[in-house]
Amino acid sequence: MKERTLSIVKPDGVEKGVIGDVLARFEGAGMRVAAIKMVHLSAEQAGGFYLVHKDRPFYGELVEYMSSGPVVVVVLVGDNAISAVREVMGATDPGKAAPGTIRADLADSIERNIVHGSDSPESAAYEIPYFFREIEIQE
Ligand code: CMP
Repeated sequence: MKERTLSIVKPDGVEKGVIGDVLARFEGAGMRVAAIKMVHLSAEQAGGFYLVHKDRPFYGELVEYMSSGPVVVVVLVGDNAISAVREVMGATDPGKAAPGTIRADLADSIERNIVHGSDSPESAAYEIPYFFREIEIQE
């Protein structure tokens, strides 16, 4: 089933110079880039994006980190895009991520884990319009 998902190359991914590497891995898994932009989120914008985590103990640090530098926001389209992208990313904690995944290969910690991907259709439905208007998505 053709699906959309939202991915973010986080500040550590941009700083490490692996934007191209991350996108190539998604494209190699059959995903197509349908929208892309670079933004530097304010703390308020990062907080709104991660609102679902607002009661978690790591929320404050997550918001601070995600607003610490520019990120690349991407809409990916493909067969079962949500699960396909999550497979290529690997587990949230790079120490638990399968070998060959983005996080196992490139990430330093559970917070500085290089990349975000929507975890469900409901998340994707919130996250994609958070950054893109329909006219900006080339499907
Ligand atoms: P992400 O997929 O972007 O979704 C929420 C983020 O919170 C997650 O990746 C991690 O980078 C970050 N995070 C920090 N600490 C934790 C934690 N203990 N459990 C889950 N996510 C965490």
